Amino acid sequence: MPIKKICGIGAGYVGGPTCSVIALMCPEIQVTVVDKSKDRIAQWNSEKLPIYEPRLDEVVRTCRNRNLFFSTDLDTAIMEADLIFISVNTPTKTFGTGKGRAADLKYVESAARKIAEIATGDKIVVEKSTVPVRAAESILNILRANHRPGVSYQILSNPEFLAEGTAIEDLLNADRVLIGGEDTPEGHAAVEELCKVYEHWIPRKNILTTNTWSSELSKLAANAFLAQRISSINSLSAVCETTGADVSEVARAVGLDSRIGSKFLEASVGFGGSCFQKDILNLVYICECLNLPEVAAYWQQVIDMNEYQKSRFSAKVIESLFNTVSDKQITILGFAFKKNTGDTRESPAIHVAKTLLDEGAMLHLFDPKVEEEQIIEDLTHPTVTDCPEYVKSRVTIYQDAYTATRDTHAIVLCTEWDEFKTLDYNRIYSEMMKPAYIFDGRKILDHDALQKIGFIVQTIGKKLTKTTLAGSWDS
Ligand code: NAI
Repeated sequence: MPIKKICGIGAGYVGGPTCSVIALMCPEIQVTVVDKSKDRIAQWNSEKLPIYEPRLDEVVRTCRNRNLFFSTDLDTAIMEADLIFISVNTPTKTFGTGKGRAADLKYVESAARKIAEIATGDKIVVEKSTVPVRAAESILNILRANHRPGVSYQILSNPEFLAEGTAIEDLLNADRVLIGGEDTPEGHAAVEELCKVYEHWIPRKNILTTNTWSSELSKLAANAFLAQRISSINSLSAVCETTGADVSEVARAVGLDSRIGSKFLEASVGFGGSCFQKDILNLVYICECLNLPEVAAYWQQVIDMNEYQKSRFSAKVIESLFNTVSDKQITILGFAFKKNTGDTRESPAIHVAKTLLDEGAMLHLFDPKVEEEQIIEDLTHPTVTDCPEYVKSRVTIYQDAYTATRDTHAIVLCTEWDEFKTLDYNRIYSEMMKPAYIFDGRKILDHDALQKIGFIVQTIGKKLTKTTLAGSWDS
């Protein structure tokens, strides 16, 4: 039976774009995205979508109310669907066993319980959320323990590899689609049905089918490998800063080896985002539970190196500003965890801002896509401060980079937005306090040009300036 109706549970960064692209590429399939959050669904049905992704507006506008629907009516969508994607959040547990490391599966479980309560007929249930190995077994246990006559389930694992900021492009031109299923005739049939959905636009050779556990583990492994590359180059950036080597030159020389490749070798203030840290911590926890402490320690080091990099960069800012930022006016350019997204989850900017606030700085912030409320929410979160009012009194948010930098002592660039490359730095310099500092945490600016203007520039993985006894600066 070909799939005619799809239900996507979870209208977030993954569920929204994924279901929108399926609706775009499969016009004969009706796709309904449901969420328990009324606000989120109202935003998906409005002119201002809840997330920013290049081209997402255009895709949603083409399909919405044609074969793409956003709703809070989970019951109807589940009942009518042949295939159900579970794309709910799987954050790190904040309490209980595995606190700070294990994935919290309560949202996946509650979605599974809802399906068990409502479903009639045959359903294919697809895990799209990133989950620990063997999570499909837990979902199946819930579904089968609540089994009613005439209902049958197949569980598939179909992890999502999109990256925020390029989600639509990644979905339309995926390197691969991974589908894991049970090694039974029914399991193979369910895998085949999901393959047919993707085959509307993904060549069959790029659709990989595996057993369920390989598929689940591959997602954690892919994120662990990607983050490991960033931590590897960041570890070398520290060596570069004290030896005179330039990490960009090292990365280029290393990346030209075709066995290594050049992607994901850019040194920076550190990686952020909702996935890398959470998924590696989850992997570490799984290894510990499997009594594999050496493997756990190996992957834990990727996280530790990222923490070190964020702390090292923040410390460099303070040290350069005469070891004190108390009451200094400091601009943070960029608050999203990377360019082309408004997502701030685990953003390195939060770490930098927290360190500077702890040292008594006054912060001036600007990000092209992050809303003021989001920045305040992040900086007043209990993990950042126990005194939200103090933070609010020390943070000002601006609508453009020029007002954000006026009359400040230093600029700390935390997100690699393209528009920061082409700002009028002559104008910015003339309106800043002197000496004017720039700390480029993303290595995107023209450091020579900035130094010629008069800025004192510091970046990652390259020694740019040194002071002489006479107090002058040379490069
Ligand atoms: P998100 O937090 O943006 O969205 C999750 C949505 O699920 C929320 O709107 C929430 O209200 C809803 N939800 C939770 N429980 C529900 C329930 N029982 N019924 C109905 N709705 C429910 O999360 P995001 O970023 O979309 O991530 C989802 C999953 O995809 C996670 O497992 C994540 O690790 C994985 N993933 C995320 C990627 C990313 O770039 N954000 C990339 C690849 C995978």
